[in-house]
Amino acid sequence: MRVIAIDGPAGSGKSTVARALAKHLGLKYLDTGAMYRAVAFAVLRAGGDPDDAESTTATARLVDLDIGLERVMVDGVDATVEIRGPEVSRAVSAVAANPEVRKELVSRQREWAVRQGGGVLEGRDIGTVVFPDAELKVYLTADPEERARRRAKEVTDLDYEQVAADIARRDALDTTRAADPLVEAADATVVDTTGLGIDEVVATITALLDEGASS
Ligand code: DC
Repeated sequence: MRVIAIDGPAGSGKSTVARALAKHLGLKYLDTGAMYRAVAFAVLRAGGDPDDAESTTATARLVDLDIGLERVMVDGVDATVEIRGPEVSRAVSAVAANPEVRKELVSRQREWAVRQGGGVLEGRDIGTVVFPDAELKVYLTADPEERARRRAKEVTDLDYEQVAADIARRDALDTTRAADPLVEAADATVVDTTGLGIDEVVATITALLDEGASS
């Protein structure tokens, strides 16, 4: 089973790069951040409190998730737009810090990869927790200013200052939480995407795969 792990902070270019790489390699693609966002969406939709660990865990275990390339369905409801919105973005850190939620989603991610016969998975803990034996682990980074610029462009109703503050807040929460914090796997290759185009990053990763295949 061929698994490629793409980890890194918000705005590092993970989604764009992982999608393009999956297409290039003929593999399926899974955005695991969308899964945490989808659980946050389900909690908010039910009128729940994302900080209430018990009910959030129950929601994570029961929720029906369909994470597609173009569409994210949560219990049969199209949540593609909402999961990127400010309410879910605020709620998602608490959801992602919940160890029981993580256990549930990690197990769904592993099942997904087995079902698909491998894939490109992007997130924060793919190389460290979900697939420590991945064929290749890439940790993408970029300057915080560039990351905020990219995110601000993605979500049209947000301004740069807001996005920069939100990214800084989420970086801090993601890297300091007790459960599977965002860290580079010891054997990950760090690729700084500041000033690089998608094609350049995909070419860099493809070269890493070729190196691995020939060594
Ligand atoms: O990549 P993103 O911004 O869509 O991720 C949303 C949140 O989920 C973010 O706070 C980090 C968290 N996350 C995580 O903890 N583990 C993952 N594998 C993916 C995302």
